[in-house]
Amino acid sequence: MNHQATARAERLFSGPIGAEYDMLKLICPAAAAMSLRVGDFVASLPARPNRTLDLFEIGCGTGVTTQALLHSRSDLTIAAIDNEPTMLAQAQGNLAGFLGQGRVTLFETDALSGLRSLPAESVDVVASAYAIHNFLDDYRSLALAEAFRVLRPGGFFVNGDRYALDDAAEHTRQTQAEARHYFKTFAAIGRHDLLEQWIIHLFSDESSEHLMRLGPALATMQAVGFEAVEVPFREGVNALLTAVKPAP
Ligand SMILES: C[S@@+](CC[C@H](N)C(=O)[O-])C[C@H]1O[C@@H](n2cnc3c(N)ncnc32)[C@H](O)[C@@H]1O
Repeated sequence: MNHQATARAERLFSGPIGAEYDMLKLICPAAAAMSLRVGDFVASLPARPNRTLDLFEIGCGTGVTTQALLHSRSDLTIAAIDNEPTMLAQAQGNLAGFLGQGRVTLFETDALSGLRSLPAESVDVVASAYAIHNFLDDYRSLALAEAFRVLRPGGFFVNGDRYALDDAAEHTRQTQAEARHYFKTFAAIGRHDLLEQWIIHLFSDESSEHLMRLGPALATMQAVGFEAVEVPFREGVNALLTAVKPAP
């Protein structure tokens, strides 16, 4: 298959779940904690003498993880991209102070196009949270290869995301429990509109062309050239994956 020709970005947050993205904390409290974990990982990285650490964030959404990153250390500058104007408009408000200081710049573009626009070996860190699992499988492989290309040798990749369990039966059981939790939570506050949208979104996450299982995800990272591919945190489908671009 010619991946260049078929890989495409989708826009899955244009409707009510993007407009009321804050509601995610009701159904997935793990997400906010994961954003802090991504920030903690970046805080642990060595400083670059006489310059800032340059970070590219994939799928910044409303800026939840961007904020965690910016608070994690003061020598960090971020180029953050998202292809959903509704999400970026909220990020503009949430990140207003940091935007004013020039510590973050927001770009409306899809991940693959954004990465392709960067020169090779031009960033220190590629970071993301809960965006990459939304990608179509072939698009994801291309984006990860581009993330490797744009990193400087010795640069870091960190992603806190939904990585499906390799045990398919257990994964199905956990997903069923998750769907039950969505029903209980949104029914309790009378938000059947959001329930419908998040269930539809869950079907997208679980579809064969999107599902990001942990084992194959680790193999893809190694195949594109990353080393020290590790999972320092995992709780159900929520996992933190870190990796390094080898220095010569
Ligand atoms: C679940 S939200 C997570 C947002 C944010 N990273 C956070 O930690 O809260 C996923 C975000 O990824 C964005 N996204 C999904 N596919 C994308 C793509 N191909 N290119 C750029 N952004 C994408 C969506 O628009 C959405 O804002």
